[in-house]
Amino acid sequence: MVHESGAIQEYAENCPGTPGLDIARVRRDFPILSRQVQGKPLVYFDTAASAQRPLAVIEATDLFYRLHNANVHRGVHTLSQEATDLYEAARLALAGFIHAHSTREIIFTRGTTESINLVAQSYARPRIGPGDEILVTHMEHHSNIVPWQMVCEQTGATLRVAPINQRGELLLDEMAAMLSERVKLLACVHISNALGTINPIKEICAMAHQHGIPVLVDGAQAMPHANVNVAELGCDFYCLSGHKMYGPTGIGALWAHERILEDMPPWQGGGEMIRTVTFEKTEFNELPAKFEAGTPNIAGAVGLGAAVNYLQHLGMDSIAEHENSVLEYATAELSTIEGLTIIGTAQEKAGVISFTIDGAHPNDIGTLVDHFGVALRTGHHCAMPVMQFFKVPATARASFGLYNTREEVDVLMASLKHVREMLR
Ligand SMILES: Cc1ncc(COP(=O)(O)O)c(C=O)c1O
Repeated sequence: MVHESGAIQEYAENCPGTPGLDIARVRRDFPILSRQVQGKPLVYFDTAASAQRPLAVIEATDLFYRLHNANVHRGVHTLSQEATDLYEAARLALAGFIHAHSTREIIFTRGTTESINLVAQSYARPRIGPGDEILVTHMEHHSNIVPWQMVCEQTGATLRVAPINQRGELLLDEMAAMLSERVKLLACVHISNALGTINPIKEICAMAHQHGIPVLVDGAQAMPHANVNVAELGCDFYCLSGHKMYGPTGIGALWAHERILEDMPPWQGGGEMIRTVTFEKTEFNELPAKFEAGTPNIAGAVGLGAAVNYLQHLGMDSIAEHENSVLEYATAELSTIEGLTIIGTAQEKAGVISFTIDGAHPNDIGTLVDHFGVALRTGHHCAMPVMQFFKVPATARASFGLYNTREEVDVLMASLKHVREMLR
C-alpha cells in the first residue's frame, strides 16, 4: 500500500487547477444536465443534497465493473490486484486532496454520517462519562447532533450547544466561554447545508486546543466548495461524503491524525480488519484496514477518486470563485421578490440560499418551480434546530454547484414570480 507522504505531496503537486472555469465545457461533462424535466431544460439547484456526476466519475465506475471487478486485498490473481491498486489509488488521491500526512489516515466509510458515528462510538464513547460535555453548534445537520446525543445517553455526558445569531453565524465569544476541561469533544460543521454559513474552523480549532479539546469537523458541504487542507485547519477529525463532491453515493471518508486512530479501538468487527483470528483472540489489522470491516464499496471508492481528480483538474479556487459569483447574483435577484426572506445571511457564505415567501408553503414553492424544470429542495434540510431558531417550519433552498449559471438563476426568478402570482 502506498502511504509515503512523498507520494501524497507529489500527487497534490501534479494536479494543478486551471484558472477560471469554461462553464459551457464543464456542463458538457455532466450528461444529466442535458435532460428535460416537465418539458423544460433541467435547472439543478439541489447540489447540497447530492451533486450530479461528471462523465469522469460515471466512466471510472463503469470501467471498474467492466474490466477490473474483484474483491480487494485478498487475492493474488490479476483482477484482485488491479482492484486493490485502484481502491488504494483512490485513497491516495483523497489523501493528497485534503493534505493528509499519510493514506493510513484515510478511512473509507459510507459517508459523513458513518464517519461521525465511527468517531462517536470508537473515540468519544470510551473516553467520556457523567459530568463530561460534548459541544456542538446550533447550525448542525442531524448527522452531527444525533450520534452525540446517543453517546451522551450511553455515557451520562451532556450535550451543549454553541449559539448563533440572526444572520446564522456562530457566536464565537459565547462558544469560547463554553470551553472548559469538562468538554471532551467539539463537533462543528464547516459549511452549513441549511444556511450556507462558512465557519472559521481554523480559529475554532485554535480556541478548542487551548483547552486540550479535540475538534471534529463535518465537511460534507465544504469538500465540493473549498480547498480543504486538514493540516492547515488544525482539526482532529474531518468527515466527508462522496456524493456531495460529485462522486458516487455510499462512499465517504473519515480523516484523523494517525496517532489518534492508532489509539482508537475498531468500531466494527469482521473480515479485512483483522490480522489473525482464533477463537481465543483476534489481532487487529493496521491502519486504515482496522476500521474497514467487510468488503468495502470498491467501485464507490474508485468513483470518489475520479471525482477528486476531476475537482483538482478544474481547481478548487476557480470553482469557489464561480459559485460565489452565482451566489452573489442569485442573492441580489431573489432579494427583489416581494415577501421573500433569505434565511442565513452570514458574511462568509457558500452557495446555498434558504428562503421563505410570505403566504407560500415551501413544498408548494418546490412543486410549482418543478414545472419550470427547476429542482429546489424544500423542508427542514435535516437541520430542525436551525428551523426552530428562525421560527420557520421549513424553507425552500437553492444550492449551487460548479455547473450552475446566472441564466439558470433567471429561470428560477421567472418561476418564483409565477409562484407569487399563483399564491397571491
Ligand atoms: C452538513 C451536512 N452534514 C452531514 C450530512 C450527511 O451526509 P451523508 O448523508 O452523506 O452522510 C449532510 C447531508 O446533507 C450535510 O449537508
